[in-house]
Amino acid sequence: MNAIVRETYGSPDVLHLEDVPVPSLGDGDVLVRVHAASANAGDWHLLRGTPLPFRLVAGLRTPKFKIIGTDVAGRVEAVGRNVTQFSPGDEVFGELSQSGFGAYAEFAAAPETALALKPANLSFEEAAALPTAGCTALQGLRKGRIQGGRQRVLINGASGGVGTFAVQIAKSFGAEVTAVCSTRNSDAVRSIGADHVIDYTNDDFATHGERYDLILATNGDRSIWDYRRALTADGSYAMTGGSNRQLTDALLFGPLLSVGRQKFGNVLMKPNQADLLVLKELCEVGKVRPVVDRRFPLSDVPAAVRYLEEGHARGKVVISIRSNEFCDGTTVRS
Ligand SMILES: NC(=O)c1ccc[n+]([C@@H]2O[C@H](COP(=O)([O-])OP(=O)(O)OC[C@H]3O[C@@H](n4cnc5c(N)ncnc54)[C@H](OP(=O)(O)O)[C@@H]3O)[C@@H](O)[C@H]2O)c1
Repeated sequence: MNAIVRETYGSPDVLHLEDVPVPSLGDGDVLVRVHAASANAGDWHLLRGTPLPFRLVAGLRTPKFKIIGTDVAGRVEAVGRNVTQFSPGDEVFGELSQSGFGAYAEFAAAPETALALKPANLSFEEAAALPTAGCTALQGLRKGRIQGGRQRVLINGASGGVGTFAVQIAKSFGAEVTAVCSTRNSDAVRSIGADHVIDYTNDDFATHGERYDLILATNGDRSIWDYRRALTADGSYAMTGGSNRQLTDALLFGPLLSVGRQKFGNVLMKPNQADLLVLKELCEVGKVRPVVDRRFPLSDVPAAVRYLEEGHARGKVVISIRSNEFCDGTTVRS
């Protein structure tokens, strides 16, 4: 099969297309004929082996995982003898970070719990956009104590992979959503349901005077004190991504600031089948639709990862593997 392979840690230049054996199938595994994958910020951590403690699991000098890529959608090719949930021919999507990665390939093997049936109304490209970013948004909003009803929710980084899911999931709970993004993405975030938009290039949510019940930082670079200023007296702040400052503030000061009614936390997404099923349901009832920015063929994974690393994707970056034809009917070179 064709796969994007690397032998060493480094920039996307270390990635190359190679003919490799199809993964072997364990008794509890599902072999997926991959139609589409999606790129995630985690790709470049895996690619570069950073931050360094990450190499304790990913390989100290040489990477253990030769084929990267986390999110897949495709058709079940074969199942191991202990698999009960899927049969050959089923259309599935899933998250492979707990089972050795390998999404940037024509076939991937995964335990059945890493997968779920694909939302019936989504293309493979759209379904591949869902797992990591969708689960991160969902778990981030839960950490921020999302509830039914008209909570006021602010999402920083609303135009990115995680942010575009967060806006739609928060709306599905009935929240009044304020999206923070740049001018060029304002219309896009309104089109997925944001009630208000704050353009971070010429406005500042922290000095606006508005207060929010829940703030989700999916991107950006603001201090935890700025977020605190914009929270209601019993509001919650959850951080899933953004700058190192946002991360260290949440880790160092989050627990200290959470002694009162306000809560401050961070989320490291834990992939699980139950959340894949929640996302599937939200898609099937029309409350969530992945926003796909650019699509790349398998051979262009290095370009896809470089593009994502620039930090300005609008929604998700998708790799189309099985077909030259995309969900919007356009075609690319194979
Ligand atoms: N906690 C977890 O388990 C987990 C899981 C997945 C991802 N992450 C992290 O979450 C972060 C976001 O991931 P992602 O997939 O959403 O990334 P992404 O799709 O690459 O985010 C790009 C988007 O962020 C916007 N953006 C950039 N700088 C911004 C700023 N200062 N303020 C507001 N928006 C800004 C960009 O808009 P403009 O072009 O307009 O600037 C762009 O639309 C990353 O740091 C990633 O490492 C964490």
